[in-house]
Amino acid sequence: MPDPGKTAEIDRLAALLRAGEVVAFPTETVYGLGADATDADAVLSIYETKGRPRFNPLIIHCADLAMAETLAEFSLLARKLATLWPGGLTLVLPARPGNGLADVATAGLDSVALRIPDHKLALELIAAVGRPLAAPSANPSGRLSPTTAEQVRRGFGGRVPVLDGGPCRAGVESTIIRVEGERLVQLRAGALARAEIERTLGVTIDVAEKDAAVAAPGMLASHYAPNALMRLNTAPRAGEAFLAFGTAPEFGGPMRNLSASGDLHEAARNLFAMLHELDAVGAGTIAVAPIPNAGLGEAINDRLERAAAPRP
Ligand code: TXA
Ligand code: MG
Repeated sequence: MPDPGKTAEIDRLAALLRAGEVVAFPTETVYGLGADATDADAVLSIYETKGRPRFNPLIIHCADLAMAETLAEFSLLARKLATLWPGGLTLVLPARPGNGLADVATAGLDSVALRIPDHKLALELIAAVGRPLAAPSANPSGRLSPTTAEQVRRGFGGRVPVLDGGPCRAGVESTIIRVEGERLVQLRAGALARAEIERTLGVTIDVAEKDAAVAAPGMLASHYAPNALMRLNTAPRAGEAFLAFGTAPEFGGPMRNLSASGDLHEAARNLFAMLHELDAVGAGTIAVAPIPNAGLGEAINDRLERAAAPRP
């Protein structure tokens, strides 16, 4: 029997999510801080709420395989792994072009990390929203991942609505596996043991290099690098492309402005698309205006510093 109180609560929280708000919800691994993954502003609110100073690609939570298939390309091997869903397994797959996910949810990558959580309330919530939810663990940046609703409430001082699903069964984050053609690579050990996946499905899973494993590739220093070189905190020279912020100088070359009004939220929303666009014009160097290091500016600057880091 559906619990009528819970159903009303899920409808209320789903409406908030559809309106672009952030809501914490239970999964079998840890509580997630969820937002509509197709809404850039909603996803940026996750970063603001967590105080996370860095744009990691986030795990996109789906209600069912049909929803997941609208977001990524599933090879036969990926389909085989997906038979373990719902569960504590995240698959990194090639993104489907035009899948509608916000750039800030995938950190501008052409792959996407997907999972169907094994928790009745999570699945009901995502289905009620009717859109995939981006969700990192529901803790302020630098703190432990929460496994009860009470920990989430304490972490955010009651500022975030929480769907209470009791304590999480697994208590550790999902295992992340990237499907690379016929090869499987574990990027993060987690709730579902690698040996168990291998045994259940009759597959072999490699383990990513130590640094890559901790980081998942989204965090490697030069991972986000565009083809162009980057010069930060500067004005453009002739022959360069220019990424402006706020009042832009006169410049005849290719230019985008992250936010003419100097709004960091708008700048974060535009960041990945504009970097891709400027990279595509083929300039050897992209000069970037100074960005204030406050609020979302910290994550923007982290992203730009990674893009500017020496390439391996
Ligand atoms: O159990 C979990 O996985 C929890 C619950 C809430 O589902 N979620 C979670 O999400 O741990 P998050 O955002 O904290 O972890 C995301 C991880 C990061 O290590 C990130 O680098 C990796 O997933 N990741 C996301 N997209 C990726 C991609 N396209 N390629 C490689 N790694 C990716
Ligand atoms: Mg986390």
